[in-house]
Amino acid sequence: MRTSGGGFAGLVASVATVCLLLPTASRAQLKVGFYNTTCPNAEALVRQVVTAAFANNSSVAPGLIRLHFHDCFVRGCDASVLLSVNPDCGNTERQSSANNPSLRGFDVIDAAKTAVERSCPRTVSCADILAFVARDSVNLTGKLFYQVPTGRWGGCVSNETEANNNLLGPDSTVEVLINGFRKKNLSVEDMLVLSGSHTIGSSHCASFLATNRRQRANETISAAYQALLEALCPPNSGQFDPNTTEIDVSTPVVLDNNYYKLLSLNLSLHFSDDQLIRNATLAPFANAFAANEMLWKDKFVAAMIKMGNIKVKTGIMDEI
Ligand code: HEM
Ligand SMILES: *[C@@H]1O[C@H](CO)[C@@H](O)[C@H](O)[C@H]1NC(C)=O
Ligand SMILES: *[C@@H]1O[C@H](CO)[C@@H](O)[C@H](O)[C@H]1NC(C)=O
Ligand SMILES: *[C@@H]1O[C@H](CO)[C@@H](O)[C@H](O)[C@H]1NC(C)=O
Ligand SMILES: *[C@@H]1O[C@H](CO)[C@@H](O)[C@H](O)[C@H]1NC(C)=O
Ligand SMILES: *[C@@H]1O[C@H](CO)[C@@H](O)[C@H](O)[C@H]1NC(C)=O
Ligand SMILES: *[C@@H]1O[C@H](CO)[C@@H](O)[C@H](O)[C@H]1NC(C)=O
Ligand SMILES: *[C@@H]1O[C@H](CO)[C@@H](O)[C@H](O)[C@H]1NC(C)=O
Ligand SMILES: *[C@@H]1O[C@H](CO)[C@@H](O)[C@H](O)[C@H]1NC(C)=O
Ligand SMILES: *[C@@H]1O[C@H](CO)[C@@H](O)[C@H](O)[C@H]1NC(C)=O
Ligand SMILES: *[C@@H]1O[C@H](CO)[C@@H](O)[C@H](O)[C@H]1NC(C)=O
Repeated sequence: MRTSGGGFAGLVASVATVCLLLPTASRAQLKVGFYNTTCPNAEALVRQVVTAAFANNSSVAPGLIRLHFHDCFVRGCDASVLLSVNPDCGNTERQSSANNPSLRGFDVIDAAKTAVERSCPRTVSCADILAFVARDSVNLTGKLFYQVPTGRWGGCVSNETEANNNLLGPDSTVEVLINGFRKKNLSVEDMLVLSGSHTIGSSHCASFLATNRRQRANETISAAYQALLEALCPPNSGQFDPNTTEIDVSTPVVLDNNYYKLLSLNLSLHFSDDQLIRNATLAPFANAFAANEMLWKDKFVAAMIKMGNIKVKTGIMDEI
């Protein structure tokens, strides 16, 4: 096999492996410990890779959680987010503006896949690896643990338009957010709970600056915070401007409930985040999470598992 950190070429190689991966065992539904007998070290190997990458640079954790989310919301959790080629021609999910250039962590996936392949060739799907690395990232940043049900098939189709149609933008109103999650059979509460992922990680100026100015006019963002963001960003930030800022200014590397505390202080970065407390039905839930971290963490773990079940392909080879 190739070595880890193979960049673009390495990624193509690992994705090709997924697409050739046609396990004979039936995958009727996801199961905790799906690889107990076929690849008993799979989870430990993935964890080692994520732990090492996190020790080197903690920003891999938010990148990996978002990768799993963006995988699951387009064609289900099938690793299509990793594909570099659309077999039907046209651009891939990765090339959509929601993913390019902001989505990151591909090199870690590549390293995890390499480690697992070395131990058990052609056994563990990349879609499951995405679920594992997200779980491990939650563990490293949030001191939380959950069992990940596995047995997902990988898909071979990746289509930019589908990414544009299913990944929610930072300018989404609460109605758009609710509908976007409902389309995935996720509830309003799931949306509210999973948005709490924004307690870690960073965001590009193009994702917030222009809208912050309109929020300022509405007085829904703190004047001092908005001034700070103005200073940080080029005045007409485009998608490819490199400048970023932490989404949760208070504790950017800790998966805690500070995200919810910032909402009511008018210190949330994206319009979509701010929307959660402007709605009279949702605000009490957001405030409850701000007041009770364990309440949020319990719901967060459950919602991550639910998200990891979106349209998973098991058993029937409808895509390959
Ligand atoms: C509710 C709708 C959501 C919207 C509109 C949204 C939007 C965004 C935006 C605009 C960014 C910054 C991208 C950039 O410019 O670099 C971001 C980052 C992030 N999002 Fe979301 N998101 C949503 C839900 C979620 C969910 C459900 C999760 C995970 C379960 C998630 C996890 C993350 C993480 C961890 C980051 C930081 C990524 C990094 O540091 O590389 N988001 N999100
Ligand atoms: C794998 O082993 C774990 C721990 O013993 C167990 O909880 C789980 O049910 C097993 N899963 C399968 C599919 O055998
Ligand atoms: C460590 O992080 C740096 C900076 O993010 C990155 O360039 C490098 O490839 C990483 N090294 C390893 C071994 O992951
Ligand atoms: C960690 O990696 C990110 C890219 O994902 C980079 O922007 C940042 O500078 C790195 N941090 C360090 C300390 O190297
Ligand atoms: C991508 O998906 C869109 C929307 O479903 C569809 O209209 C288009 O034909 C697809 N493109 C390719 C190249 O498959
Ligand atoms: C993180 O995951 C490990 C299992 O790999 C678990 O033993 C540990 O308890 C988790 N951390 C916390 C604080 O739950
Ligand atoms: C949502 O649930 C309905 C009814 O069970 C099902 O037909 C649909 O495929 C599901 N959608 C997703 C994205 O899981
Ligand atoms: C400003 O307030 C109006 C009226 O409440 C609202 O419709 C709009 O979405 C708000 N815009 C921003 C950017 O906050
Ligand atoms: C934005 O990033 C660029 C490149 O890293 C840097 O030169 C610049 O000082 C940053 N800030 C502004 C306000 O442009
Ligand atoms: C946040 O903004 C709202 C709407 O403008 C305002 O009513 C509230 O007083 C602000 N809260 C703080 C803590 O500044
Ligand atoms: C507020 O949220 C509820 C769902 O909890 C939704 O039905 C309603 O449309 C939202 N209100 C506005 C003004 O968007």
